[in-house]
Amino acid sequence: MCGIVAYTGCKEAYPILIKGLKRLEYRGYDSAGVALLQQDGIALYKCRGRVADLDEMCANKNVSAHTGIGHTRWATHGEPNTENAHPHLSADGKIALIHNGIIENYLVLKQELISRGYTFKSGTDTEVLVHLVEDIFKKEDVTLPEAVRIALSGVVGTYALAILSADAPDQLILAKKGSPLLIGMGDNEFFVGSDGAPIVEYTKKVVYLEDGDVAVAIPGKKLEIRNVNEEGKQRRYQQKLVMNLEQLEKGGFEHYMLKEIFEQPKAIKDSMRGRLNVKKDVVSLGGIIEYETKMMNARRFIMVACGTSWHAATVAEYLFESLVRVPVEVEYASEFRYRNPIIYEDDVVIAISQSGETADTIAAVELAKSRGATVIGICNVVGSTLARATHAGSYTHAGPEIGVASTKAFTAQVTVLTLMALCLARKKGTLALSEYHDIVNNLEEIPAKVEETLKLNDQIREIAKTFVDKRNAIYLGRGINFPVALEGALKLKEISYIHAEGYPSAEMKHGPIALIDEEMPVVVLATEQETYEKTVSNIQEVKARKGKIISVVTRGDELVKQMSDYCIEIPQTQELLTPLISCVPLQLLAYHVAVLRGCNVDKPRNLAKSVSVE
Ligand code: M6R
Repeated sequence: MCGIVAYTGCKEAYPILIKGLKRLEYRGYDSAGVALLQQDGIALYKCRGRVADLDEMCANKNVSAHTGIGHTRWATHGEPNTENAHPHLSADGKIALIHNGIIENYLVLKQELISRGYTFKSGTDTEVLVHLVEDIFKKEDVTLPEAVRIALSGVVGTYALAILSADAPDQLILAKKGSPLLIGMGDNEFFVGSDGAPIVEYTKKVVYLEDGDVAVAIPGKKLEIRNVNEEGKQRRYQQKLVMNLEQLEKGGFEHYMLKEIFEQPKAIKDSMRGRLNVKKDVVSLGGIIEYETKMMNARRFIMVACGTSWHAATVAEYLFESLVRVPVEVEYASEFRYRNPIIYEDDVVIAISQSGETADTIAAVELAKSRGATVIGICNVVGSTLARATHAGSYTHAGPEIGVASTKAFTAQVTVLTLMALCLARKKGTLALSEYHDIVNNLEEIPAKVEETLKLNDQIREIAKTFVDKRNAIYLGRGINFPVALEGALKLKEISYIHAEGYPSAEMKHGPIALIDEEMPVVVLATEQETYEKTVSNIQEVKARKGKIISVVTRGDELVKQMSDYCIEIPQTQELLTPLISCVPLQLLAYHVAVLRGCNVDKPRNLAKSVSVE
C-alpha cells in the first residue's frame, strides 16, 4: 500500500531511491515519483505508471542530490495519474512530502486550508499534509520538525511520511502512525524504507519508528525522535534487520511468484526448524512459551486475518478443533472490528498476517486487546506492526514474499498453526501420543512431498492451457480441503482475472450447480479423506451436467482419475496435513493460467501486497 524510500548522506540519492522503489514496487505500482534536494531548491519528477517509467523520464534530467525522497503509489484517493502521484509540494515549492496511509479528516482540513487561500493540485488526501505543514511553519515561530509535529496532532488517520525542505536542507523528517517506516543507520547517513528491502543493501542497523513518532535525520548527527503525544526526546533501540539481499532477487525464476512457490519446501522446513525437539515428543514455540497456560485454558480461539491469511486461519479451525478440542471462530478482521463482537478475557485471539501491516488485522488486534483478550500473532515480517502489537507470537520464517499473490506465506502459516495446535494438544492431553507421533512424522516428510509435487509443474502448465479462454471456474473441497478450494480460487482470480469461486463440495448442489455446463472448469480436491466417497458423488453430479473435472487426488487413486478430464496426483499424507500439499498444484495452475493469458503475475492489476488501509 504505497512504498516509501528516502536517503540523506553523502552518496548520490537518486540511484538509491530508484533501486529502493523497484524493491518496494510490490506495495503499489499506480505511479512513482522522487523529490531531490538540490542547490537551487527541490527537483520534482513524477509520473503515472511504474518506477521504470519514472527512471526513463529522468534519463536526461539533473538528478544529482544527496538528499531525496521517493514514492510508489497504490491509489486510494484520486485516480492513478501524474497530479496524484507523490511527492506533493507546498505552495511555495519549498517542502516536498510523501505519504503511505490515509488521512481520514482530509476533507475538513482541505476546506480549512482553502479558506486560508491554499489551492490544491491533486485529488489526494495527502496534499493537505504538505499545505498544513507549510501553513504552520510559516505562521508560527517553530522549526520544521515542530511544525510537522503540530500538524500531525490535528490529523486523523494513518501515515508514514518523509518530508524534505529547501528551508531546512540538512534535515530529513520522518513520521509514522499506523503505517510502517524504518530507518537504516549508515556511516553519517540514513536510509529510509517502508520495509527493509530498500535498506538491506546498505546497512542492517535499523530503528523502527513507533506510532506518533516524528524523527529528524541529519547526516553526521544522532537521529532525534519526538512523539506527537508526548513531550521530550524518545528513545528507540537499534535493531538488526533480519533479511538478506539474495532473498530479494528472482534467483533465475521468471517471476517472484514462481520462485516463492518453489521455495515452499524450504519455507516449511524453516518454519519448523528448532520447534520440534529431537525425540519429537515436544513441540515448542519459543515466542509463546509465556502464554502457553493462557492458551491451554482458552475458552475459545478467535482467528482474525484477511485474504490468504484468512484461508490459513480456516485451515487452523479444523486443526485446532480436531486436536486441541477448543471451539474456534474464524473472522474476517474487517468485519470483526466493526461488529462489536463478544470477546471474553479468557478468549485467545490469533491474528495471522504475512506482512504484519494489514490495517484491518491490526485494528482487530487492538480491539481484542482493549477487551482484555490475549492476542497471539503469526506473521512473517520480523519487527512488523503486528509483531509488536500482539502479546506474543510466532514468526513463520518463510523469508520475504514479494509476489503479490501469497504462496509460501500460506504454507508457512499453516505449518506454524499445525505446530501450535500440536503443542497445545499435547499439553492439554487431548491428543494421544501415538496419534501425535503419526502427525509429527508426517509433518517432517512434508517438505520432501511438496518437492515431489513441484515436479508436476509441466503437467500443470498443460492443464492451464484449457483455462486460458475461460471466464469462470469453480473450486470444490471438503473438510480441511475446503479452505484450500477458497485459496485456489483466490489465486486464480487475483492474477489471471478469471472469475473463480470456492465452495464446500456439498454446497454446490445448493446453488452453484446451476452454473455448470460444458464450459465450466471445476477443480475438485479429492484426496484421501473421511468424506472421499461423498466427494466422488459430487464429481458425478458435475459430470452429469457436462462440467470439466480437474481433480487433485492422492497418488494411485484410479477411481477419481477415470472420472476426471485432468487428474493431478499428489503424495499421500495424514489428512490434517493435506492442505500443505494440495494447495501447491492450485498455486501452479493459477500461475500458468495467468502467464498464458499475458497477465502481470507479480503485480496484478488493482492490487498491492500490503494493504495498510481499511
Ligand atoms: O499480509 P497479510 O497476510 O495480512 O495480507 C492479507 C491479504 O491482503 C493477502 O493475503 C492477499 O489476499 C493476497 N494478495 C492473497 O494472495
